[in-house]
Amino acid sequence: MTYPVNMSVHPDVSAHFDPATNTISYIVKDPSSDHCAIVDSVMDIDYAAGRITYDHADRLIDEVRSRGLTLDWIIETHVHADHLSAAPYIQEKLGGKIGIGSKIMVVQETFGKIFNEGTEFQRDGSQFDALLEDGDTYRIGNMEAFAIYTPGHTPACMTHVMGDAAFVGDTLFMPDGGSARADFPGGDAGTLYDSIQKVLALPDDMRLFMCHDYGPNGRDIQWETSVGDEKAHNIHVGKGATREEFIKFRTERDATLDMPKLILPSLQVNMRAGEVPRDKDGNPMLKVPLSGL
Ligand SMILES: [Fe+2]
Repeated sequence: MTYPVNMSVHPDVSAHFDPATNTISYIVKDPSSDHCAIVDSVMDIDYAAGRITYDHADRLIDEVRSRGLTLDWIIETHVHADHLSAAPYIQEKLGGKIGIGSKIMVVQETFGKIFNEGTEFQRDGSQFDALLEDGDTYRIGNMEAFAIYTPGHTPACMTHVMGDAAFVGDTLFMPDGGSARADFPGGDAGTLYDSIQKVLALPDDMRLFMCHDYGPNGRDIQWETSVGDEKAHNIHVGKGATREEFIKFRTERDATLDMPKLILPSLQVNMRAGEVPRDKDGNPMLKVPLSGL
């Protein structure tokens, strides 16, 4: 697959860090128009209280409005397991189309079973406005964006490239953070390694924007690096680490990790494009299956 890389377009990227989930959401503006996209929004949840709020999403909405921008796309790099998407809330306020990788259907099939969802839960991705395949392009104003299929962390992960900026989701972390886990249902360390190579095959000066950062070794939170930097310094895949070395390391490391605190609500909401599921009486309701994960 050859991708339509265009390093001459430099979108303005505004980052919004969510300290509750260590997620970074982005507003990406076409340099030649007032159109933008939002990548990986966050809806706030107080899980213990069963309460949802929208402070983080409201900050994104306020910025889009105050800059007079038109929102074309609300992109999900994947079905996140550690935070809830605010995509439908943002869409209701600002418009825009919600896009995700077409392999969402695999994720919906897997978790539809684990959460014992009935037939009313569609597993065809129809909750989203656009299901993107590897190499598919879309427009943000005059700027062409495209998706690269980068599975491994989950089966539906995509990296989204907008001009000289790539949003890698959980494919890579900052060089000193390495890579994301590959042990969720449908994840695979070898596949993740192959996907990372696709990202590292982009031009060295391509800007890379992370979905998460945890400030390893006490450093301040960071979210932007470059392909060249990752190739030279990434602690898991930099300096030519082999596929075998990566699989061994990743598998051993993943066996030591706890499940993310918000995995159960996140999956149920995010596999529905950010809609909270409802019980038979129409009340918002989440499940806690005691087997399956
Ligand atoms: Fe993730």
